[in-house]
Amino acid sequence: MDESNLNLLKAKATRNDEFYTTTNNLGSDLSVCSWYLSGKIVYCNCDNANSSEIVKFLLQNFKSIGIKKLYVSGLGDFFSVTEDGYDGLKTHRLVGGGSFYSQECLSLLRKCDVVVTNPPFSKFNEFISKLMEYGKKFFVMGNLNAATNKIIFPKIKTGEISVIKSKTKKFNTLDGERNINNVVWFSNIPNIGKPRLSLDCSIHDYNYQKYDNINAINVPTVKAIPNDYSGVIGVPITFLPYYDNKEFNILGCMRNAKIKGQNIYQRIMIQNKKLHKINLPDIREMVSECVDKILNESGNYGYHAGDLGKSEYFTQFATSNRGTGHFGTGTYFVGDENQLNVGGYKDRPRHKVDFTPYNLIKITDFRNGLAFHDALRDINGKIFRRYANGDGIDEKALMEASKIVAIFVFKDIEDFNDLRNKTKTVYNKVIDIYDDYVDEYKKVVNYGKSDRRSISTELISSFGYDGVDCRSCKDMDNTMFGSVIYNLK
Ligand SMILES: C[S@@+](CC[C@H](N)C(=O)[O-])C[C@H]1O[C@@H](n2cnc3c(N)ncnc32)[C@H](O)[C@@H]1O
Repeated sequence: MDESNLNLLKAKATRNDEFYTTTNNLGSDLSVCSWYLSGKIVYCNCDNANSSEIVKFLLQNFKSIGIKKLYVSGLGDFFSVTEDGYDGLKTHRLVGGGSFYSQECLSLLRKCDVVVTNPPFSKFNEFISKLMEYGKKFFVMGNLNAATNKIIFPKIKTGEISVIKSKTKKFNTLDGERNINNVVWFSNIPNIGKPRLSLDCSIHDYNYQKYDNINAINVPTVKAIPNDYSGVIGVPITFLPYYDNKEFNILGCMRNAKIKGQNIYQRIMIQNKKLHKINLPDIREMVSECVDKILNESGNYGYHAGDLGKSEYFTQFATSNRGTGHFGTGTYFVGDENQLNVGGYKDRPRHKVDFTPYNLIKITDFRNGLAFHDALRDINGKIFRRYANGDGIDEKALMEASKIVAIFVFKDIEDFNDLRNKTKTVYNKVIDIYDDYVDEYKKVVNYGKSDRRSISTELISSFGYDGVDCRSCKDMDNTMFGSVIYNLK
């Protein structure tokens, strides 16, 4: 590029840097970080002490926020310090021109605790790199597009840097007041407040499209992120202000995503952490490993203390907040006989039963097992009670529970579409069982007696299973959870 073009570009970049924060919503933006500024040395290092609205806000609220000291410097020959509230800025001469990377300003940077400013856009990367190099906390304004640059993005992924929405839209520029969208704050202040993302959409609500070049679904707006999809999801960068690394994993940023040959603007690839916990291939692999282990090492037996036969009834599940036993009504067993050497169990007659003739759902991992247990608990309890009381179906809750049941009862789920269909099958089956049980419920609510099997037993056995086997999951092979056989042969 020839020099005149280069100069033109430089001039344009510099011109773009001159957009000054106005009072418009600035107070509300800064209130997000002001709690952190209490007792701290704050540095505005791209600011004119007399005209910056950020500086004005901090000075006006100096005492109420409890700022210890405020440094202000910008391009020019002076910097200012306030220590005792807004009763005067002490002005000092600078010899290095006030650039944030001049030695004088870097020595101020070293002394401060936290930087609050709106830095020049064209120098954003150098600016942030300097703050990180000096290990400083910051709350700085920038364009949302900067979030995916190679300096910041890795730290956003890990949650070290948060993106915070700005309500500031109006800026003073060399050409007068302008509205600028896509302005956000970047901050590494820990626990900075963020809006919670309420995920109200189900994967069944839209016809989500898949990308041509990556196995992920495209979600056009943050609101449309489904709450029940465990695979990879491509979202627009407007997702970042809502990103919580306890809820989602960011897998990367994709700049060349395509759908039916059309380019899609850059997408952040995310995955729901909670749903991802239930991972089909993992479950299958663990199941076959553990079943082999049981058969080879200890024989295929379960132990029961007490009489063999039906031990739990529908009444106990539907009408109380009973916490366990939701794997079904029947005879409960442990694989580790020592588990029965406790409390009342140790004095009861002990039975050893061969599990070989039974087709059981195998649980090998506590987290997955608990998800299955809790899904059955919801089906037995709160979703059913609401339905039986005439308040309709909680569709979201039943869909969620049905999905988990589907993962356990169908051994051959191939892909997401298949899972969707099988979830629906479970869902419809539950409704059929509910219809069959509503009268029973009314009876037990009034008279407290029914010896019918629980709804979860009815459901699981309708898929051809004789019970649930937790013997290879250490944390469930006990008298609190245990394995169940619905009908002993
Ligand atoms: C986007 S403006 C914002 C100004 C002010 N912080 C505000 O919020 O109103 C960025 C400012 O940084 C100044 N600037 C540019 N390069 C700088 C540098 N190397 N060191 C310090 N300030 C710089 C620009 O002149 C401009 O005034």
